[in-house]
Amino acid sequence: MQKRFLITPGPTPVPPEVLSALSEPVVHHRAPRFTEILKQVVAGLKYIYQTENDIIVLAASGTGAMESAVVNIVNPGDHVLVGSMGNFGERWKKLTATWGAEVTALDYEWGTKVVPVDIERALAADPAIKAVYVQFSETSTGVLNDIRAIGEIVARTPAILVVDAISGLGATDLKTDDWCVDICVAGSQKALMVPPGLAYAAVSEKAWAVVEQCTTPRFYYDYVTARKKMTGDAAQTPYTPAVSLMVAQNAAIDLIKEEGLENVFERHRILARAAKEGVKALGLELFGPEDPEANSVTAVRVPDGVDGGKIGKIARDKWGVWLAGGQGELKGKIFRFGHCGYFGHSDIIVGLCTVEMVLAELGYDVKFGASAAAAEKVFMQSTVQL
Ligand SMILES: Cc1ncc(COP(=O)(O)O)c(C=O)c1O
Repeated sequence: MQKRFLITPGPTPVPPEVLSALSEPVVHHRAPRFTEILKQVVAGLKYIYQTENDIIVLAASGTGAMESAVVNIVNPGDHVLVGSMGNFGERWKKLTATWGAEVTALDYEWGTKVVPVDIERALAADPAIKAVYVQFSETSTGVLNDIRAIGEIVARTPAILVVDAISGLGATDLKTDDWCVDICVAGSQKALMVPPGLAYAAVSEKAWAVVEQCTTPRFYYDYVTARKKMTGDAAQTPYTPAVSLMVAQNAAIDLIKEEGLENVFERHRILARAAKEGVKALGLELFGPEDPEANSVTAVRVPDGVDGGKIGKIARDKWGVWLAGGQGELKGKIFRFGHCGYFGHSDIIVGLCTVEMVLAELGYDVKFGASAAAAEKVFMQSTVQL
């Protein structure tokens, strides 16, 4: 027997209350009980998204929601702007190009942020740009973009702002309406504390005007059909939804409401700070800027002389702990802790101590216990429950 831990930015651990909701007998999706669940989930998501916009619920992974935010917006030949600073920014480029967009890419070194003034200049240079696509939390590097600043810029133009908040929503404060995010996509398996399989899109009035004019053929991901069916007293989803995951999402939303959104964000801040202080106490270098709001993922440079490809494997096989490795061009160069969703102080300690043991095995000079001690100091300052 080996006890296993997911210290990854998705899928993330699922709370017992949510696991228990998952085991409820399956509800029929045309039953009044399901309408009730759907309405509760949508209302709860509005609270987390901090929005009055419509929420579309999809049975899909996060990439499905990303694709939905392309097929409902982009006609072949339309101009779009993508700000890319990691693996998931590259996905926006691939998705928009796949659907025939003329893509202008603002490419940033991985580990850095999108520069809002570059967006402003690109929009001024090409007034035909219909949509701007960026990440909130770029999971592959742990870096958080300044969506408030980008939103302010895009709102002054006819373009819409599409944000991938798949790993950020529910971990870091994201004010969808105040920050003028027109389509904001999320997935169930990160800070929303549910297994993979549900994806969401919050769609603004400005975005609806574009959606209604978009002629790209689409069926399963058509927002217009979804909104029509999801509206009114007898709201349903157009096609069979992931019913049990919706029941689970409802239970997870109850937990988030009980804790309070501000406390949820503060817990994530403390956990992220503890993880960062912990790795620094081992002499390791963080990857990317040290941002007190980048609370979903801690990315760490693999120290010189250590085989980065072995870190995740040893952690998993020997210690039962899943850490995330580097993606794309960062493979073998960084490793990542996820701490979005159902994470507490004990998870951070497990992750840090595992890193100590793995690095020691790989020949790095480790002062055992140093990372946990640094994390404990951060925990002791917390004013919220961890
Ligand atoms: C920021 C971001 N975007 C998109 C995705 C893709 O989501 P999925 O793997 O659920 O399709 C992920 C998943 O890790 C992500 O973190």
